[in-house]
Amino acid sequence: MYIIGAGAQAKYVIDIIDLPALIRVFDPIGGRVGQKLLGIQVEEYDKDKIPEESMVIICVADPKFKKEIYEGIKKRIFAYPEMIHRKAVVADSANIQGGCIVNANATIQPDAFIGMFTMVHANVSIDHDSMIGFYCNIAPGATICGHVQIGDNTVVGPGAVVTKNVSIGRNTIIGAGSVVLSDIPNNVVAYGTPCKIVGENL
Ligand SMILES: CC(C)(COP(=O)(O)OP(=O)(O)OC[C@H]1O[C@@H](n2cnc3c(N)ncnc32)[C@H](O)[C@@H]1OP(=O)(O)O)[C@@H](O)C(=O)NCCC(=O)NCCS
Repeated sequence: MYIIGAGAQAKYVIDIIDLPALIRVFDPIGGRVGQKLLGIQVEEYDKDKIPEESMVIICVADPKFKKEIYEGIKKRIFAYPEMIHRKAVVADSANIQGGCIVNANATIQPDAFIGMFTMVHANVSIDHDSMIGFYCNIAPGATICGHVQIGDNTVVGPGAVVTKNVSIGRNTIIGAGSVVLSDIPNNVVAYGTPCKIVGENL
């Protein structure tokens, strides 16, 4: 099992796997090479060190950087397993795609869809029939109500509430604690109660 990333998301995944002897951790930024992450020595990232058909988990928070790492290795034959904490609750009909990380106490309800490489943090609730795109980051304690749609690369801040039937575009940031009552477009930063656009996310 190969983890690309040496920060908090990597720690969550090491905790989920709980078999440190099977894990190698690569730092794609470089600042943590040689340090230990939950007892595992962090190595310099070199995609050629990862054998074909290995299981790879990309553990970086920034959606654009996560995508960049995937684009750099997608021609290689790797498996991208979904990592689901043993204390998460996931409905049988929920579709959690490869490369996702679902942390402790997250709840994912029937017919929800979580696109590849999305991070669902601790205590997040994703209700029925909601669709979350690829590479998203849904921060701790966010509540995504039913029939919500969220585009690729979008970050929903900690404790935000996205109310029923709302759509949020791709590459958007929703600030911590926001209450999203109406649709929010692509490529913006928005926050507050009710959530309003405050700028562009270029
Ligand atoms: C939305 C967000 C990205 C905006 O960041 P930013 O553009 O750097 O904003 P600033 O910190 O410069 O704040 C600018 C103003 O907006 C206000 N503001 C920022 N975020 C806010 C929020 N979530 N709700 C209400 N007001 C907010 C600040 O108080 C400040 O107001 P002021 O000008 O009156 O002092 C950020 O505040 C946020 O909520 N980030 C969440 C990040 C996070 O916790 N991620 C965890 C991932 S696990």
